[in-house]
Amino acid sequence: MKIIVIGAAGAVGQAVVKELAARHEVISAGRNSGDIRVDLSDIASIEAMYQQVGAVDAVVSAAGNVHFGALAEMGAAEFAIGINDKLMGQVQLVLIGQKYLNDGGSFTLISGVLSQDPIVYGSSASMVNAGLEGFARAAAIELPRGLRINVVSPTVLTESLPSYGPYFRGFESVPAAKVARAFSKSVEGAQTGQVYSVI
Ligand SMILES: NC(=O)c1ccc[n+]([C@@H]2O[C@H](COP(=O)([O-])OP(=O)(O)OC[C@H]3O[C@@H](n4cnc5c(N)ncnc54)[C@H](OP(=O)(O)O)[C@@H]3O)[C@@H](O)[C@H]2O)c1
Repeated sequence: MKIIVIGAAGAVGQAVVKELAARHEVISAGRNSGDIRVDLSDIASIEAMYQQVGAVDAVVSAAGNVHFGALAEMGAAEFAIGINDKLMGQVQLVLIGQKYLNDGGSFTLISGVLSQDPIVYGSSASMVNAGLEGFARAAAIELPRGLRINVVSPTVLTESLPSYGPYFRGFESVPAAKVARAFSKSVEGAQTGQVYSVI
């Protein structure tokens, strides 16, 4: 398969590339790194990425930013970051990407455990992650030509504990390699409309 991985240089993305590149042609994409440059918050750059790459068998997203902050200090501007980047960026990967995906191809998006298991400062992340999961379940029943869509929803990565550990006290972490296997299940399996919780 020819697979685009957006966020390929990240903690999640590196593990996904390692898993999939063993068996497939992987094109890495990122804001400042990778074979192709793309910014999820910029529709024109998503369109340009697909034009550059052409037809693909799978689109994998391991990227997306949200603002973390105290609810009392969150306003429209803070929520707009997550809405425009992680949420609508990944939705646009699907809306624009469906015409570049070969028959039977797949989209695999990333949400996160905060959709179900919130933390302090995570209201935007919880909202965005839940939105992505709802979007994927609905898009799965409308996508044409056997196209599939799933979401991987990991808890905090073991590799990310040095940065995020204090915000996730009491959570079990998972190694990035385990998260990568959920991406493999989505890309290399046949399921659609699923949210793979990796906890
Ligand atoms: N790490 C965790 O514990 C964890 C747990 C659950 C969910 N998640 C979710 O997984 C996703 C990736 O997290 P991560 O920890 O792997 O992040 P990370 O290590 O910071 O890496 C992010 C990757 O995405 C790319 N990227 C960032 N913003 C982008 C944008 N607007 N458009 C295109 N590419 C962009 C970066 O590219 P450049 O380096 O080129 O800028 C980088 O390759 C996030 O949505 C995060 O919420 C992470």
